[in-house]
Amino acid sequence: MVDLVAPNVLLHRAWLDARDEWGRDTVQHGSGLHLTGDVDTAEEFAAWVHRLNTLSDETLPVGEDLVHATFWWMVEDGEVVGSISLRHRLNDFLLHAGGHIGYSVRPSARKRGLATWAVGQVLARAGERGIDRVLITCDDANAASARTIERNGGVLEDVRDTTLGRTRRYWIELG
Ligand SMILES: CC(C)(COP(=O)(O)OP(=O)(O)OC[C@H]1O[C@@H](n2cnc3c(N)ncnc32)[C@H](O)[C@@H]1OP(=O)(O)O)[C@@H](O)C(=O)NCCC(=O)NCCS
Repeated sequence: MVDLVAPNVLLHRAWLDARDEWGRDTVQHGSGLHLTGDVDTAEEFAAWVHRLNTLSDETLPVGEDLVHATFWWMVEDGEVVGSISLRHRLNDFLLHAGGHIGYSVRPSARKRGLATWAVGQVLARAGERGIDRVLITCDDANAASARTIERNGGVLEDVRDTTLGRTRRYWIELG
């Protein structure tokens, strides 16, 4: 049974197990890992978890070039199997390249439908937030991500060169 759960310190050991599978310094899309340095100690991890959770609070300011966003971990039988985030609005970079939703699934948990399921869950939450049109993007060469988006009803607007490389941009109408 897999759930989407808010980042929390109780999952420190499980999160580090997943991180070790990915490898240190590996980009995990949708995880917010770029917002922190090391997360090995309890203090570092707690500070990062706090940062992730406060980013979703629209009454609090976020740093320049950031938008409010909500983060979840995909948790299955106590293991952290993936991350996903919803940006509450698009800035220029997100409209052009990054999109509303980012996600990643740890290598050992792939090809079981987890990303497809998690994107569907987060689309429902985007709708609850009043977002009526969701942009999801992926690298032009990322067949698995493109398929994940298409399985969730993504309609390709264009493929363009961005700061992230050649990028496929899909829209999903909600409601
Ligand atoms: C992209 C990613 C999230 C997909 O996660 P996943 O849980 O394996 O995806 P799913 O099991 O839901 O599969 C989605 C679709 O992609 C297909 N797929 C999965 N891996 C694939 C691969 N390597 N090549 C081609 N298609 C693939 C699946 O068959 C499925 O299509 P189907 O429903 O028509 O059979 C995962 O590969 C990942 O974390 N990659 C690295 C990070 C990343 O690229 N994130 C997205 C950034 S935009």
